[in-house]
Amino acid sequence: MAKAQQIFVCQACGAQAHKWAGRCETCGEWNSIVAETAAAAPPKGLGAGKGAKLELVGLAGETTPPPRLVTGIGELDRVAGGGLVEGSALLVGGDPGIGKSTLLLQAVAALAGRGAPCVYISGEEGVDQIRLRARRLGLEKAPLALASATSVRDIVTTLETGTAPKVAVIDSIQTMYLDSLDAAPGTVTQVRGAAQELIRLAKRRGTVMFLVGHVTKEGQIAGPRVLEHMVDTVLYFEGERGHQFRLLRAVKNRFGPANEIGVFQMGDAGLAEVPNPSALLLGNHERPVSGAAVFAGIEGTRPVLVEIQALVAGAPPGSPRRAVVGWDSGRLSMILAVLEARCGLALSAKDVYLNVAGGLKIGEPAADLAVAAALVSSLTDRPLPEGNVVFGEIGLSGEVRPVAQAESRLKEAAKLGFRRAMVPKGTSGAPTGLKIETFDRLIDLVALFAEPPGRRA
Ligand code: TYD
Ligand code: MG
Repeated sequence: MAKAQQIFVCQACGAQAHKWAGRCETCGEWNSIVAETAAAAPPKGLGAGKGAKLELVGLAGETTPPPRLVTGIGELDRVAGGGLVEGSALLVGGDPGIGKSTLLLQAVAALAGRGAPCVYISGEEGVDQIRLRARRLGLEKAPLALASATSVRDIVTTLETGTAPKVAVIDSIQTMYLDSLDAAPGTVTQVRGAAQELIRLAKRRGTVMFLVGHVTKEGQIAGPRVLEHMVDTVLYFEGERGHQFRLLRAVKNRFGPANEIGVFQMGDAGLAEVPNPSALLLGNHERPVSGAAVFAGIEGTRPVLVEIQALVAGAPPGSPRRAVVGWDSGRLSMILAVLEARCGLALSAKDVYLNVAGGLKIGEPAADLAVAAALVSSLTDRPLPEGNVVFGEIGLSGEVRPVAQAESRLKEAAKLGFRRAMVPKGTSGAPTGLKIETFDRLIDLVALFAEPPGRRA
């Protein structure tokens, strides 16, 4: 018998090494390398045997869109690209306690309630715990098939017997193990092996397979990152612990747009959909306050209005603080540098805090102008006009550049009762009732705050 070979695998990125190291050379993660036993001898190449000749086809031809299963939870269906595709595998990642189990239990219970056979298998919680949660969610009547198990062999056998379930949830992939592998559950080898078997089963049976994956900062448990290339869709469930809002974000989707978001609110009766997130993400001010600007953004395919809050404060001697929540800190430094160098504002000695309301994370450069407006508003202690939205990208020379999908941003603003918008020059298509003010240089926006109060309409 061949001697089992020991290899060292990074639990964060899956890279293999022949000796242990404190830091993974591939991804740079510390303390993530764990000894595992190499599965089998490496494949020997093709050898002499001939394979079958493939039939190559042209690009044009008959295609049918994949059949989709609608869960009835609109925000989940939207993120999946308009329902779940039969036989597809979805990975749902997120911090512990964020609500992954709750969301998936709600989804499969809803489907089961409408007659689709669904299975929920938990390796983390006992049947009693799941029943208690279901009762709390008011779902105990749903004809959902439930089990607490961790052996992939048992799970595969169960799911292969009888009618194929429409949807199966595996909560979580880190707790599952293949008895044919000589590694502990949660290691990259096990996670990869277990996922491979479950995904294969999903394709074979046409079952939608949800795999729950934990993300830990310590990298002790295999992060779902090694799984991302194996599954069809990767969803991240995110949110700030102190906030009720939860965002389900499609990071990868073979069957729909990536970056689509679904918005939920965690309450006493589980996760509720938030079909109109703008209303929740906007601050609730009786009158305009300084340091706040409403950004008309796009998340996925949907316009979302969100309040950006800035606080510029005098700093004690020493290096000033820069703290950002919900935006890129490098981008903030850039905006501060442009305001300083191109618009003559003295910001380098000040503490700067920036916050995106509601726990949303914005990645769009289109937020530049709103961030700049919030910063200047806080610095001068003058609020932006009431009922005003802002968007536009800022270049290093201080120019304001046009952004994509301006029309749908403006439409959303008008729909929510905003009456004016500060936008890049060249933006058109403002709906009636919305007055647009265009800028091609950042300094023109800054100049608005220098005017004596009362002069502005
Ligand atoms: P859970 O779905 O167990 O998170 P995950 O599977 O991602 O680890 O969610 C647990 C949290 O959600 C827990 O802190 C309690 C809270 N929660 C509610 O606030 N309301 C509810 O109705 C439920 C079921 C959970
Ligand atoms: Mg859970």
